[in-house]
Amino acid sequence: MKYFIANWKANKNVSEADQWLKIFSQNYYPKENVTIIIAPPYPFLHIVHEVVRSLKNVFVAAQDISMYEEGNYTGEVSAKSLKGLVDYSIVGHSERRVNFNETDETIDKKIDLAHKYLLKTILCIRDGNDKIINETEIVAYEPIGAIGTGENVSVENIIALKNKLSLGDSIKFLYGGSVSDKNVAQYLQTDAIDGLLVGGASLDPVQFLKLSSQV
Ligand code: PGA
Repeated sequence: MKYFIANWKANKNVSEADQWLKIFSQNYYPKENVTIIIAPPYPFLHIVHEVVRSLKNVFVAAQDISMYEEGNYTGEVSAKSLKGLVDYSIVGHSERRVNFNETDETIDKKIDLAHKYLLKTILCIRDGNDKIINETEIVAYEPIGAIGTGENVSVENIIALKNKLSLGDSIKFLYGGSVSDKNVAQYLQTDAIDGLLVGGASLDPVQFLKLSSQV
């Protein structure tokens, strides 16, 4: 199984999100060995959920989750609120670690809460120093220098990092960082990489679908 995660980050307005979904669903053909996960900003989770529930092998993720379960935390979005709307949550993306001071400790709490509400987690790590929380279902290796730069990392370097991690057998291992339809093929040829976390190239649904069409 190869996973393709579309991380829209803080992009798109309502009509752009609608348009993305329309084009995606018109052009999507399920494959037995491909899982697609769409991670839009929170305001679009509902429309994404409504559209993908009828599409085989397509799931929804939040881009983050609160470290608080519920209560007086204005602006936070809890696992409790997300349950029923998403299947997964990304946690620990480097953009959150760097811009919002997230630590391994807060990420640990987020993963615990996600699991309490039966959401799966996609834990992003920047390198071998970020803590791996073995309860996560997916680990995405996203070296900072590769994100949004066009400087994607070689398969050899990704596998070298993976070998240092000693991940549990059930954890899926993904790569993310400047993945595009021009460089995706190499990542799909090895069983060591279970899929890709895609930012920039996921903003256009046709471009995003070109990645999974290469499986
Ligand atoms: P990118 O982003 O594909 O634009 O490099 C990847 C990510 O940060 O998830």
